[in-house]
Amino acid sequence: MRAKAAVWLGLCAAVVTATWIDPQVLDACPGYTATNVVTNTSALTADLVLAGTACNVFGNDIEKLALEVVYETETRIHVKITDASAARYEVPESVLPRPAPSPSVTADSAAIQFNYTTSPFTFSIYRTSTSEVLFSTASHPLIFEPQYLRVKTDLPANANIYGLGEHTDSFRLPTHNHTRTLWSRDAYGVPTGTNLYGNHPIYFEHRETGTHGVFLVSSNGMDVKINDTEAGNGTTLEYNVIGGVLDFYFLAGSETDPTEVARQYAQVVGTPAEVPYWSFGFHQCRFGYTDFVQVADVITNYSLANIPLETMWTDIDYMYKRRIFTTDPDYFPIPKMREIVDYLHSHDQHYVLMTDPAVAYAPGENYTAFDRGTEMNIWLMAPNGTSPHLGLVWPGVTVYPDWFNPDTQTYWTSEFASFYSPETGIDIDGAWIDMNEPSSFCNFPCDDPFAQAIEQSLPPNRTTLPPDPNTPIFVNSNSSLQKRQSLTDEQLLYPAYAIEDAAGGISNDTAHSDALHSNGMVEYDTHNLYGTMMSVTTRNAMLSRRPGLRTLVITRSTFAGAGAHVGKWLGDNFADWEHYRNSISGVLGMAGVYQVPIVGADICGYAQNTTETLCARWAMLGAFYPFMRDHNDDTSIPQEFYRWPTVAQAARNVIDIRYRLLDYIYTAMHQASVDGTPLVNPLWYKYPQDTATYGIDLQFLYGDSLLVAPVTEENSTTVDVYLPKDTFYDWYTLTEVQGQGQNVTLTNVNFTSIPLYVRGGSILPLRASSAMTTTALRETPFELLIAPGADGTASGSLYLDDGVSITPSTYTWINFSYNNSILTADGHIGYPSGSRLTRLRLLGASSSSGVPSIQSANGTSIANVTYDGPSKVLDVTLDMPLDQNFTIHLTP
Ligand SMILES: *[C@@H]1O[C@H](CO)[C@@H](O)[C@H](O)[C@H]1NC(C)=O
Ligand SMILES: *[C@@H]1O[C@H](CO)[C@@H](O)[C@H](O)[C@H]1NC(C)=O
Ligand SMILES: *[C@@H]1O[C@H](CO)[C@@H](O)[C@H](O)[C@H]1NC(C)=O
Ligand SMILES: *[C@@H]1O[C@H](CO)[C@@H](O)[C@H](O)[C@H]1NC(C)=O
Ligand SMILES: *[C@@H]1O[C@H](CO)[C@@H](O)[C@H](O)[C@H]1NC(C)=O
Ligand SMILES: *[C@@H]1O[C@H](CO)[C@@H](O)[C@H](O)[C@H]1NC(C)=O
Ligand SMILES: *[C@@H]1O[C@H](CO)[C@@H](O)[C@H](O)[C@H]1NC(C)=O
Ligand SMILES: *[C@@H]1O[C@H](CO)[C@@H](O)[C@H](O)[C@H]1NC(C)=O
Ligand SMILES: *[C@@H]1O[C@H](CO)[C@@H](O)[C@H](O)[C@H]1NC(C)=O
Repeated sequence: MRAKAAVWLGLCAAVVTATWIDPQVLDACPGYTATNVVTNTSALTADLVLAGTACNVFGNDIEKLALEVVYETETRIHVKITDASAARYEVPESVLPRPAPSPSVTADSAAIQFNYTTSPFTFSIYRTSTSEVLFSTASHPLIFEPQYLRVKTDLPANANIYGLGEHTDSFRLPTHNHTRTLWSRDAYGVPTGTNLYGNHPIYFEHRETGTHGVFLVSSNGMDVKINDTEAGNGTTLEYNVIGGVLDFYFLAGSETDPTEVARQYAQVVGTPAEVPYWSFGFHQCRFGYTDFVQVADVITNYSLANIPLETMWTDIDYMYKRRIFTTDPDYFPIPKMREIVDYLHSHDQHYVLMTDPAVAYAPGENYTAFDRGTEMNIWLMAPNGTSPHLGLVWPGVTVYPDWFNPDTQTYWTSEFASFYSPETGIDIDGAWIDMNEPSSFCNFPCDDPFAQAIEQSLPPNRTTLPPDPNTPIFVNSNSSLQKRQSLTDEQLLYPAYAIEDAAGGISNDTAHSDALHSNGMVEYDTHNLYGTMMSVTTRNAMLSRRPGLRTLVITRSTFAGAGAHVGKWLGDNFADWEHYRNSISGVLGMAGVYQVPIVGADICGYAQNTTETLCARWAMLGAFYPFMRDHNDDTSIPQEFYRWPTVAQAARNVIDIRYRLLDYIYTAMHQASVDGTPLVNPLWYKYPQDTATYGIDLQFLYGDSLLVAPVTEENSTTVDVYLPKDTFYDWYTLTEVQGQGQNVTLTNVNFTSIPLYVRGGSILPLRASSAMTTTALRETPFELLIAPGADGTASGSLYLDDGVSITPSTYTWINFSYNNSILTADGHIGYPSGSRLTRLRLLGASSSSGVPSIQSANGTSIANVTYDGPSKVLDVTLDMPLDQNFTIHLTP
């Protein structure tokens, strides 16, 4: 979280000192000639030699490069271009392990092909089946200089490009004069058009002929420019990268199913980590709970308001002088914190605390987290390697853990073990990690962080008196050392090509780009990895506290692959309608493209004051974020859902829906963890031929069967919902709605409901009723909602396990299908859930031959069958064990 008006107002004033250079100058660079081309059935190597007089735009052109192309799978080509004579920085395998190529792949069998010309060297990727070119550098010479790499491809006009986040731009990126800058930044207010907290240099491009992906494995700062050509007949996409190598994965995707490319991307960066079942419950947080009494009161008040609260969170307020691994003895005394945790645990609820990376620089103050880290020598270092690099964060002047140091995991694990000890500390259930871009409040060049600390009054004083301590509560790997590039500190701080970092410079308000890691790497190269490395280290620390059990770690900064370890929230948004709207594209990016499915925005808005209607609408939208958390800052009005009657009612209504759908989304999450199938889908993933869906980012699919269409304008009770040509069913009335490939205008959408549709062809396993906790939810029986498509069939699945184990000893996976009036359940029955199936509802049921009846249900007696003519719903009450394969004839 970030706050303090003085800090962020200053940020708005930062000047973006980007570099502009005439594209014609770049296109006049000599490029390279390919020589010594060697090919075999699945690979190609070549030397690339500078093809003319160096253009030296941002440094000296490198004379000789090495090209390596490998067909790694039938759908993936790896293209790597490096300096032939000197090692350069590459994203370490320890941070992003690369997949092994399949042994038997040949170019002939691949779905995409690498094609090239030798003089000048250009390359293209085309689809084998159609020869359609997907990526081509043909008209744009490659530029490769020590601190500037350029690759530019021609694409079709108005190309449909998604990804290159983290951003709050439209989900389908603008193709006119658009720059996506990638450089982790503490981006208060998450402004559109700027670099934000995380970096995912992957894009998916969709055409009516198919969807493919391009992943540039680079953690260096970059501007990716997307533009229409002057003739208006094409789009160009241009990478401008300030270091590293060119390391591309081209993913063939598929000609028919856009979600294929998501799974192929998951094969490269890893499938997402599973989280405990309870993670899908509702979370409450805020910055500004001043003491333990307030925290306890919020827990009590949710219970009194009859709104399910699964997990309580506490921000940095709990710390002593804002120092991590401490509690304030007056405001958050350990015995009271332990009482809160015990209370939560005894009510099947959970607790999460924030941990920032920066550790207060406090020599001689008996601050053990600082003293132990200093003793172990695990801090990120100043360029001379002899003293720690200093920043300025909440506690004042700070040092930063160096996640590359082999001892840092030990340090972090042991701090977590002792501070979060179940026996003597605070027994948290999940971890929240923030400020890990890493953030610093120190304005570059930050010559005197101590003076800036005084100027900014850090750490801030408390503004309330401490409560009476006796106030009763609850009455109501890294072996190959990579060499630092031979760049001067000056070059590391001020590269000739300045990316459009909205902080004004790559070292402003963060650890400096010349800071040194223990393995010799510099922040210049690894900056974008800091948040993900903290994520992995924190997850390991949490796993070692409760071996064998899953954990929930929520981070702010991410890099490609972060989802394999942690979830993320979308940072410090504002409580306004624009941020409410663009949260959807944020979630679609993380869950739909970047493989970080456990994601959500701060519900009701983080900064500024929310309103009752915004908060009501947002509670309902947020119930369809995979990670649902209400959170705001310390200077805004309180916004717990129970504060307003409308919001409380909206929350009760929608948490009821979310919880009844919880096993549906848990099943989808399990599938995601197996193969990367997206948890949240843009409409075009399911309607790839419908061009009207390509730009839609105010509606989305939760899982792949539920269409969510929130009201998106202030004071409005109307929304235009685009329904593709398909069969849908209204969630509330269960009546069939035939989509016409047009907008349907819904009116009178009151402030306690959100439009929802079930896609025809789905079978949803629902809990028959909701509950106050997810533990209680697991005791409730199931019903099946059968929503046939136009062809009269439907299918769905259900995954069940113990909800907590990393590797459950048993599990159940049931596939449901409905065809020719027969419902079958068939799968692997392992986990003894003891669940009952108590209801079936068949939607769109024909009544041509009177009231339908049930022929058989494995001998189980049917208690009751009703048919509602107007809604065409056949409603069957029964009672049978769910833990079995079965067949039921629903014969009209
Ligand atoms: C491959 O490259 C060659 C040389 O530029 C070109 O003639 C050919 O058309 C390309 N093939 C495809 C399918 O693009
Ligand atoms: C492109 O965008 C930049 C920055 O947003 C703006 O200054 C410039 O005028 C735009 N150019 C065109 C041709 O639209
Ligand atoms: C897009 O093209 C226009 C016209 O050629 C140019 O002025 C502008 O700088 C380009 N923008 C980007 C982001 O490349
Ligand atoms: C676009 O138009 C320009 C100028 O007329 C032409 O040179 C170019 O080949 C066209 N490109 C495509 C992709 O049609
Ligand atoms: C630190 O702790 C030691 C031993 O407990 C004590 O002697 C010393 O006074 C403390 N120093 C400070 C600055 O609190
Ligand atoms: C190393 O650099 C830091 C930060 O610039 C400085 O404070 C320190 O004095 C330097 N140490 C040596 C031995 O030069
Ligand atoms: C914070 O408290 C300290 C000690 O009580 C006091 O010296 C300082 O002036 C206070 N700072 C602010 C900004 O109020
Ligand atoms: C650094 O950021 C601050 C805002 O945090 C801004 O005031 C300042 O201008 C920026 N410095 C540079 C060199 O851009
Ligand atoms: C939010 O409301 C509080 C209380 O009414 C007020 O003091 C504060 O100035 C408001 N904040 C903003 C950003 O409007």
